[in-house]
Amino acid sequence: MAAASYQDNASRMRVAIVGLGFGAEFIPIYQAHPWAEMAAICQRNSDHLNAIGDRFGIPRRMTRYEDVLADPHVDFVHINSPIADHAWMSIEALKAGKHVMCTVPMATTIADCEKICDLVATTGKKYMMAETVVYSREFLYLRELYQRGELGKIQHLAASHPQDMDGWPEYWERMIPMHYATHVVSPVLGIMNQLAEYVSCFGSGTVREDIAQKSGNRFAVQSCHVKIMDSDITAHIWRCLYDVARQYRESFDVYGTKQSFEWTLVEGEPHVMHTAKQPEPEIPRKVSVPDFAHLLPEPIRKFTQSIQDADHLSFIQGGGHGGSHPHLVHAFLSALRGDRDPWPNAVQSANWTCVGLCAHESAINGGAIVPLPAFTLCGKAPT
Ligand SMILES: NC(=O)c1ccc[n+]([C@@H]2O[C@H](COP(=O)([O-])OP(=O)(O)OC[C@H]3O[C@@H](n4cnc5c(N)ncnc54)[C@H](O)[C@@H]3O)[C@@H](O)[C@H]2O)c1
Repeated sequence: MAAASYQDNASRMRVAIVGLGFGAEFIPIYQAHPWAEMAAICQRNSDHLNAIGDRFGIPRRMTRYEDVLADPHVDFVHINSPIADHAWMSIEALKAGKHVMCTVPMATTIADCEKICDLVATTGKKYMMAETVVYSREFLYLRELYQRGELGKIQHLAASHPQDMDGWPEYWERMIPMHYATHVVSPVLGIMNQLAEYVSCFGSGTVREDIAQKSGNRFAVQSCHVKIMDSDITAHIWRCLYDVARQYRESFDVYGTKQSFEWTLVEGEPHVMHTAKQPEPEIPRKVSVPDFAHLLPEPIRKFTQSIQDADHLSFIQGGGHGGSHPHLVHAFLSALRGDRDPWPNAVQSANWTCVGLCAHESAINGGAIVPLPAFTLCGKAPT
């Protein structure tokens, strides 16, 4: 896209951010983006709402979500509320004629994923799940290498997301690891832009009794194989939320015939690239992953490296999400402006989310193969 077109701000899309914990990280990005207008903010507690509104100079503030949906000055909502609220908020926004960008996961039931896909189909509004991993610099780097043929044929994919959720909001204690699996599902499906066909998942170990009671899940770790549709590839993903001693990690490994990429074991250390047919000691080499800020309009490039308000626990524990936030904002605005599907669109978001939902079903049935629902198997957007 030519840089000059970024200057055309005749039709800025007006966004309301809903949920101002993690959601507040996106405010300075929308404020700087030439195609966006930071129209309104919403959260239930008016003290924090006013503190954020004053800090960023946003006059339109709402404590009731209904008021956001009734506001004709809002074109789309960017939902960053707790997980249980993602589905109903997305559904109500689509019914109210708003486009939706929603943080992960899309929903916690297959029925709600289907409702969102149906509404997108009938209203013509856009829906994008704001999956940080597939806009991280590591993912963008690996996809570029893959598309250039530098990895060769992909033979296997793997991803892990251990994270100790003690200290996070209480609703995490009611979560099932695989119900928040999109950070591991999305890269293994996204790199070849494929969908998942079926899964088999095993549970391992046990969480402490109060967590097991609250969540309805006893497994400490859930470990899943994902059969990727229209390919000969199976990916391996695993998740845990409590009672496993492991530093936070959102890893993504790609095994190709020419080169393979393995994520560092320790946050902040270099990743490793293995090259085939070298003398054994020369096969692995530590790589530094380039930044992809050049793909963005100039005013938001700085946000791949730093965020003005980067004190949210997810930033500290999540390593800044690979500089993904300005890419997410730009991807959705580009889709709205170009009147085309965002990536991921609703069907892909549903497929990625349902992998985790089906995986948990498989785990409680001893690893039985569970097919992805049919409505998630067609209609993906190009990358
Ligand atoms: N890498 C990532 O993709 C990533 C990282 C961090 C958080 N998240 C997601 O972001 C979401 C928010 O996480 P958080 O840590 O900020 O949570 P949080 O509980 O700290 O904040 C939730 C916010 O939503 C608001 N809210 C709740 N119910 C509301 C309602 N009915 N109407 C309006 N506002 C309401 C709250 O007032 C608060 O501002 C979660 O779903 C989480 O999964 C994603």
